[in-house]
Amino acid sequence: MVQMPRPIILDCDPGHDDALAILLAAASPEIDLLAITTVGGNQTVEKCTLNARRICTVAGITGVPIAAGAAGPLLGSLHIGGYVHGESGLDGPAFADPTVPQVDESAVDLMRRVITEHPEPVTIVAIGPLTNVALLLRVEPRIADRIQEIVIMGGSTDRGNDTPYAEFNIRVDPEAADIVFRSGLKVTMCGLNVTHQALATPEVLARFRALGTKLGDLCVELLTFFGSSYFKTWGFESPPLHDPVAVARVIDPSIVVCLPQPVAVETAGRYTRGATVVDLHHLSGDPDNAMVATELDAERFWDLMIGAVASYG
Ligand code: RIB
Ligand code: CA
Repeated sequence: MVQMPRPIILDCDPGHDDALAILLAAASPEIDLLAITTVGGNQTVEKCTLNARRICTVAGITGVPIAAGAAGPLLGSLHIGGYVHGESGLDGPAFADPTVPQVDESAVDLMRRVITEHPEPVTIVAIGPLTNVALLLRVEPRIADRIQEIVIMGGSTDRGNDTPYAEFNIRVDPEAADIVFRSGLKVTMCGLNVTHQALATPEVLARFRALGTKLGDLCVELLTFFGSSYFKTWGFESPPLHDPVAVARVIDPSIVVCLPQPVAVETAGRYTRGATVVDLHHLSGDPDNAMVATELDAERFWDLMIGAVASYG
């Protein structure tokens, strides 16, 4: 039986790895990319939105509405990940002015309209801070019946990256993450423990370069800058390509092994605020409220990612 493409909204903060997640989602026959929404995180929401438009323009992705969302977290001010993604949020390559437009609607309004109008429940793939998703659930609680699943890149079953115990997306807006994990919706968490298995090694870059295409070369430039940030900040020899892992989970769930686990978001800890506390051994007796990714089939992941870029020609 032919599998119908899965309708998704991609909520993102481009961001180098977000950029490749957009390319993967838009190219995949298993996905019907209904909309792209942006949120402040790796850079300001204005810069993230411009970057989403840039990537769609370069790749020729048209007909997917792009809407800007929250400029900052539910509480406090935005903590920007410029130390990884640079001043533009997509440092490395040079981009011409984008031709793909931004729609006038806000991200939450576009999400609400697209989900309400779609005949099937929609999956939200959230690969930035969860502010837009939390706002959607708060302003339109009935929308939950029309959401198939929320698949996030965020959190970790062990240590953090932006602070010792908090992964960046969750750290930026812990209250939003808490709302999502307590929503009762099907939540799948692709955390650092699994995205660190998706390393863009020199062999991977060589495969992108061997495509001999403008987009393949753009990915090499993006990953080279991203890699320099990861080496300077965390001493990684090769950078982990976080966000496309969440998209790969939607495309082919067998590529990302997940286990049902209780997950709590720390919102109060002086040193641990933004941590995802994953009760791996079910010691708390709390119910499983998320599918937590534990293993990645890296070989099939990279075949999927590189194959998607190749498909643009
Ligand atoms: O911690 C990694 C996450 O934070 C990724 O989504 C990256 O794009 C940044 O948003
Ligand atoms: Ca991101």
